[in-house]
Amino acid sequence: MAKQKTSFMDTIVSLSKRRGFVFQASEIYGGLGNTYDYGPLGVELKRRVKDAWWRRTVSQRLDVVGLDSAILQHPRVWEVSGHVGGFTDPMVDCKTCKGRFRADKLEDARCPEKPSKVPGQCHGELTEPRSFNLMFKTNVGPVESASSVAYLRPETAQGIFLNFLNVMNSARMKPPFGIAQIGKSFRNEITPGNFVFRMREFEQAEMEFFVPPAENDTWYDYWRSERSSWYTDFGIRPEKLRVREHEGSELAHYSTATCDIEYEYPFGWGELEGVACRTDFDLKRHSEASGTELAYFDPQTKEHYMPYVIEPAGGIDRMALTFLVDAYEEEELEKDTRVVLHFHPEIAPITAAVFPLVKKDGMPEKAREIEAELRRAGFTTFYDEKAAIGRRYRRQDEVGTPYCITVDGDTLAEDVVTVRERDSMQQERVPVSEAAAWMRNANENWKR
Ligand code: GAP
Repeated sequence: MAKQKTSFMDTIVSLSKRRGFVFQASEIYGGLGNTYDYGPLGVELKRRVKDAWWRRTVSQRLDVVGLDSAILQHPRVWEVSGHVGGFTDPMVDCKTCKGRFRADKLEDARCPEKPSKVPGQCHGELTEPRSFNLMFKTNVGPVESASSVAYLRPETAQGIFLNFLNVMNSARMKPPFGIAQIGKSFRNEITPGNFVFRMREFEQAEMEFFVPPAENDTWYDYWRSERSSWYTDFGIRPEKLRVREHEGSELAHYSTATCDIEYEYPFGWGELEGVACRTDFDLKRHSEASGTELAYFDPQTKEHYMPYVIEPAGGIDRMALTFLVDAYEEEELEKDTRVVLHFHPEIAPITAAVFPLVKKDGMPEKAREIEAELRRAGFTTFYDEKAAIGRRYRRQDEVGTPYCITVDGDTLAEDVVTVRERDSMQQERVPVSEAAAWMRNANENWKR
């Protein structure tokens, strides 16, 4: 069982490299731990995931607005938020091999000596656990001194709290309302990463939803359910998802209730996204420390109050990995096995691949014309005229392209193309002028 699980993850890693989803960062220098680069298809996949999140969380609602705050903030921010003192993992060192491991995740770690074992099981003596702060430190300005220290943000959330008044006043919002942000965060993770599941530099999609304190529980239930259904609406199999409420001992210092939306990865169940009740902890702390009262004035009661916060916080890289893993299938056909990614059409990196059946008789020219027209109409497209048509279909199946459009003799004579749908592999004759509308309609009716 364990071997099978490992090899499925290896298959995903190898497909990602071969087809240009994800590469090891600094690969030609031997790589840098827990850092990755996204290739052409990976960039498109992430862009689609971000668009789908933003559309649903911001654009399609009137009660949530967006923000793009700085990665570098005043160092006091991280003291006040509790990150300087408390954003730590317990860490142990092995006195024999000098490896450094997370004390609470020893079973996931392997010591650097061969044959590599779980730390502590190799007879190497481990030190007592010590706290290790996960924030990356840097210096701002030309002089390196204690007063020039700054941190790369470990979460995007704090930038939202700092701008609570700016956004509420400029966008004329009142609780309940949310501020959403997608952006890079940085954590000096010391556990091995399981590919892009755990990285040192990653993207987060976070939303702080400010509510009257009495409405806290209602909105917590709402966002827990809304965020879970976003995944299934975009094709994630429901049986692979679960919502796990945190035990009291697991709760972060700012939270009264938190749940994880978990996915069953090839390496086991893991957190995909968290939904947390952050109360008024952050607004209160920043108000006290800065002297600026981050409160809402309620014109009805004529009172200022600090809203409570419900925070759905997800990682774009984990979302992309989840869509990739969940979409992957090796399908046994009559004569062979086809590898197919069953991406939701709005998540798929390429929407339509256009092929001339053969490389002659004016078909390549016509196919290029159709491809350019679809690209102008807003579709992400791909053109391919190499190899037999069956091989071209398979190459697109492997990267999850939902539609392949083939130009043949009839296209030139009657202006119709053959559209082949990825999951059913069924082919349909469609007039060229209706191809775009056909695909839009198929997108809307897509079911896993
Ligand atoms: N503001 C709350 C917060 O940051 P978190 O649970 O630490 O909460 C939220 O992070 C999400 O960010 C996680 O559910 C995960 O999807 C993603 N994430 C956290 N650390 C990550 C890492 N090292 N690599 C990739 N994604 C990560």
